[in-house]
Amino acid sequence: MIRLEQDFSLLPYNTFGIAARAARFVEYGTVDDLRQVVRMLRDDLPGLPVLHIGGGSNLLFLSDFDGVVLHSAIGGVECRVSGREALLRVGAAVVWDDFVARCVEQGFHGVENLSLIPGEVGAAAVQNIGAYGVEAKDVIEAVETVDLQTGESRTFGVEECGYAYRDSVFKGRLRGRYAVTHVCFRLSRQFVPRLDYGGLREALRAEGIRPEDATARDLRRVVTAIRQAKLPDPKVQGNAGSFFKNPVVDRAVYDRLKADFPAMPCYEVDARRVKVPAGWLIEQCGWKGRPLGRAAVHDRQALVLVNRGGATGREILELCEAVQADVRARFGIELSPEVNIIGGKQ
Ligand code: EPU
Repeated sequence: MIRLEQDFSLLPYNTFGIAARAARFVEYGTVDDLRQVVRMLRDDLPGLPVLHIGGGSNLLFLSDFDGVVLHSAIGGVECRVSGREALLRVGAAVVWDDFVARCVEQGFHGVENLSLIPGEVGAAAVQNIGAYGVEAKDVIEAVETVDLQTGESRTFGVEECGYAYRDSVFKGRLRGRYAVTHVCFRLSRQFVPRLDYGGLREALRAEGIRPEDATARDLRRVVTAIRQAKLPDPKVQGNAGSFFKNPVVDRAVYDRLKADFPAMPCYEVDARRVKVPAGWLIEQCGWKGRPLGRAAVHDRQALVLVNRGGATGREILELCEAVQADVRARFGIELSPEVNIIGGKQ
């Protein structure tokens, strides 16, 4: 299946709810279809910029996209159980949370903490999604791709993916070069809950469950409930989850700041560096819940920017820049967007 569209509305393809359009939109259903698309791009549409999207839950369009937007419709989950492990090969277009739900039901463990993260499996591997002490890289075994220049297949072992906090080679050095077609996961058939991230044990106890007795279903349920309480539902209010990354700073810088701001929290990264919650920095600058035009900082989680209705991408960017300027002026810390901003600043 290859679907070709022209002057196509991207409104259903970005959770920020920005009314951007794509000059061309191409969706493909199999790896062979994707190879055909690569040939078509080379022969019929040479030189046009190409953007591959997933569920659109981490994108901000500043303008219409005057090129080709690609979207995978490759579904399917193949599963092989081997001793205490389960190896799963999952199509890039499978909805991430459907995959997590299925794993929990089938007793394949390791992704419970990543419950309810929006988006699709392919983008999860590009973005190295993470929450509550677990990152996609912890469970990924390999990433299958097609080279968008040559149409050749290439499988990246997890160690070749350059994974770091919300980062990978697919976002960095090899950006735009490969389309992820399948992601291979190595999960455990034994449930070893990861409860160290603040709030999980308390949330279980609040339900009358002793953390050591928690099941995978319990963990999925409390993670889902915490996210629903803090994060706005994109179906109700446009947003892309955390808009900024949590900045990583040298411990010496943090120690100096801590002298002036004794309540500043941090998480250890390594012996030399700590991560400071951007939500805290933004809240201290008085931005939590504050609107700017048709955009606003979310009132329950300051790391999230929301579309109050009808905002353009540029209005969201203006808010982003106002928040960055205030955090810079007050703390000397630079906030980097986690969201992919498409369309340039002009
Ligand atoms: N905080 C505030 N005010 C706020 C928000 C946060 O002071 O408005 C401070 C508090 O000290 C709080 C701490 O920040 O204890 C951490 O907050 P939270 O647990 O909500 O997590 P986060 O660091 O703000 C990160 C991820 C989220 C992920 C959560 C849970 C990034 C950029 N964000 O947020 O990921 O769900 O941890 O693991 O790393 C996403 O990527 O879209 C996303 C939602």
